[in-house]
Order: sequence, then structure tokens, then C-alpha cells
Amino acid sequence: MQAPLRFDESTYEKATTTVAGEAIAYRSFKQIDYVSRPVDPIQRLNIFVPEAYFNGGQVNGYTRVSAPIFMPNTIGGYRPGPSDFPENVARYGQGATMLAALKQGYVVVSAGARGWTSRDSNNEFTGKAPAFIVDLKAAVRYVTYNAGWLPGDPNHIVVSGTGAGGAAAALLGASGEADFFETPLQELGAAPGTDAVFAVATYCPIMDLEHADDAYEWQFHGISDWTQRSLKLVDEQPQITVQSSHLSGEEQRWSSERQQAFIAYINGLKLRDDQGHDLTLNLNGTGSFREAIVADLLSAAQAAGVAGQALGNSAGVTTKDGHIVAIDWYRYTAALGRQKGLPAFDALDLSHPENQLFGNRLMPARHFTEFAQSHTLEAASRADPDLVAAINPMTYLKTTQSQVAPHWWIRHGAADAETAFAIPKLLATRLANQGYDVNFAYRWATKHEGDYDLPDLFNWVNQCCR
Ligand code: DHB
Repeated sequence: MQAPLRFDESTYEKATTTVAGEAIAYRSFKQIDYVSRPVDPIQRLNIFVPEAYFNGGQVNGYTRVSAPIFMPNTIGGYRPGPSDFPENVARYGQGATMLAALKQGYVVVSAGARGWTSRDSNNEFTGKAPAFIVDLKAAVRYVTYNAGWLPGDPNHIVVSGTGAGGAAAALLGASGEADFFETPLQELGAAPGTDAVFAVATYCPIMDLEHADDAYEWQFHGISDWTQRSLKLVDEQPQITVQSSHLSGEEQRWSSERQQAFIAYINGLKLRDDQGHDLTLNLNGTGSFREAIVADLLSAAQAAGVAGQALGNSAGVTTKDGHIVAIDWYRYTAALGRQKGLPAFDALDLSHPENQLFGNRLMPARHFTEFAQSHTLEAASRADPDLVAAINPMTYLKTTQSQVAPHWWIRHGAADAETAFAIPKLLATRLANQGYDVNFAYRWATKHEGDYDLPDLFNWVNQCCR
């Protein structure tokens, strides 16, 4: 009998899919339990392997033992993210990304993870934080435990995701082997492998939730109208709902207070740019940290100009001879517009997905910041600050308590107002300051999305692996 959680390569399906006229042949190993005591059927993974690796062949210079293992997650909105497959053409599926990775010669592993709506047969919640990251870690442990059995190089695991999934990928990268998750991993019967990974690709991560509200008030200070588009399930069907309002006088006072809290946070981090200059903020919100973001946005605009991409909304943007030469922060962010009210994440009425994320077995939603708890509109409680910290990638970049991935690809759209521009910038800067390999850029005229630059991402992965 096979040991539990041992990969069995004898049960598979063969598939060939044509992408841009090129046939991609692979084997599919589907719906494999990645823990021995699952609590939800979503805790399964799919594995896809280029067919050539079963015949001694190579793809893109990789072999059965040297191929990177690419693990894109499907988490969005901190909801459950089911395992996916290359043939999936659904709008929110990752079929195209998986096929592109197979074409590069990568082994692709797609693991499902619980989210805030997950419940058991007693109708109790089973997917509140930290379930999503425990599941993804258990899946990584399955892969590393199966080193030698599973095709691919378990020392070259590349995780990726977008939005909440981007946050989950960043957390995998920051928190390798962190103690906090050991007990829940043991309870699920996770395989005895490591959960440290090699590289992270994170797109517009909705992370640093302890500071994301404050960052939002700093970015949009003085802008009080907001329009939120959110994806809600109505009769099981995803529907976009639009809500508009403006900050009241009291909220505008709170906004100033939260901006000051963010300025203090930034100045306490002692960040530096590539040349070693301090990145700080003045009490009025200006400063070298903001200038560094503007410079990065300008680089994004210039890269788009070079690539012949349409320059998009030109508010706050000065052009000369068809090129963007300057960006005015206030006009640019005003034109971008607030997409969220105040607080942007820890809603006073507990209505945001992040509140739901921090519920527990019996409680649908809780607060996770001191500010929202003290101004709550509901009879609410606050999640344990240790839990909130444990699912924040930034926590692990303060002390040496985990194995941090050596390589990071961080992208955020220059037209994305779902979280502040500061959030990915902070992650990138903190990592770079600690000596990790970071490739960070905003992407011009791009909203809240991911995977738009796969050829560039894969070139970078190939360089990291070779
Ligand atoms: C995501 C987007 C949000 O605006 C948010 O608040 C949480 C998650 C997402 O894209 O996953």
C-alpha cells in the first residue's frame, strides 16, 4: 500500500491543448487529497506535468527533475479558491495562465483553499483566518514531501496570486516554516515536508490589513467622494454592485487622524531606497516615500510609452513629445478616485470581506483594527492581534522567525484603487532593504488584475532558476 499522501503517478489522464497554433501535451493528476484529515472537499490539488517529462524529454531546457513547480492560487476576495485546471476558460479561472506555464516546461500544481464562506455540515464556519494560508502551506508541504516522486524541482517552487490571492502568495513567501501555523497543519494531517518556497509572484496584494485603512486615507486625503464596485453573489451568480457616497464631516476628521497614523507607521519602518536614501513622510503627507511612488508611477508610464501602450487617463500627467514626463500626485489620485469608504477595509458595520475573513467558527465577522473596534456600529468583537499579524506578510520581515523566499515579483496596476499604492511599495522596499531579490513595478493604465505580463514573469523565473 502507498504511504498516505504519497504521490501516485500511475493514475492520470492525458491531454493536448493547442495554444496559438502550438500543441501542449501534458498529464493531469486530479483531485488529490493534500492532507490526511481534510475538513472540506476543497482541500485537494491538481497536478499537470508536460508529457515530455515521462519520456526522458526536455521542455525549454528543463527536465523531469529540474522543472520549476508553479503554484498559482485562485483565491479572490478571501473567498474559497478551488483547485483549477488548464482547460478552464471561465473568466475568473486560471486556465490560460496554467497553459502558458506548461508551455514554459513548468510543472503546475493548483491547490484549493478554504475561504470565509466555507462551512461544515453543522453550518459552522471552517474557513476563517488563518484557514486559507494553512491550506496553501499544506499543499506546498505535500509537494516538498513528494520530492523525487513528483516531477519538478521542489527547491524551485514559484507561488502566485492576485488580490487576496496575491496576499496569500506573499504570505507563503514570507512565512516559510513559521511556528504559528504548525498546530493547524498538524491537525489537518499535513505531509511532513517544508512549506518554504523559492519565488513569489504577487499581483495587487490586498495585504498589511493592520495598516491598509491608514494607507488609504493617506493616499486619498482630501478626496471625499467614493464609488465602490464590488462583486457579490446574488442567487449564486456573481454580480457587480455599485455604491457611491461621500465622507461626512466626522469621517473627514477621522481621515486626517488615520493619515497621521500612517505617516508615523512609515517613519517608524526606517525604509531606504536603492541608493540608501531614507524614505519618509512629512506631517502634511508629502515626502520622499511619496516621491518614490510617483517616480515608480512615472517609470510605469514611460515603460508603457516605450511599449506603444495607450497612455490612458491623462489627469495629473504632463506629456511632452508624446511621452509622460511628470505626474502630479494630488491630481492623479483625485482622478483615480476613492473606491472605498472609511475605513476602506475594517468596515464599522462589519460588511467587508476582510471583516468576514476575521470571523471565527461561530462568528461571521469581526474587527481587526483598534480604530474600527472603538468606532464600531455593531455589537462586535476584535480578532486577536496575533492572528491579524500572523497573516500579514510584513510581520515576517521584521524578525528572523521564518524562511523568506529569496525571489519576489511584485506588480500593482497604476489605475488600481482597491488598496493604496503604498501597500505593494512597502512590501517591495522592506524586502529589498533586507537583501532579497525584488522585481517591483506598477503597471500603467492597469486596474485590479493579474497575470498580464506572463512572458516577462516567466523570463524572470527562468533566470532565477538557472
Ligand atoms: C480583493 C479585492 C478587494 O478590494 C478586497 O477588499 C479584498 C480582496 C481581491 O481581489 O481578492
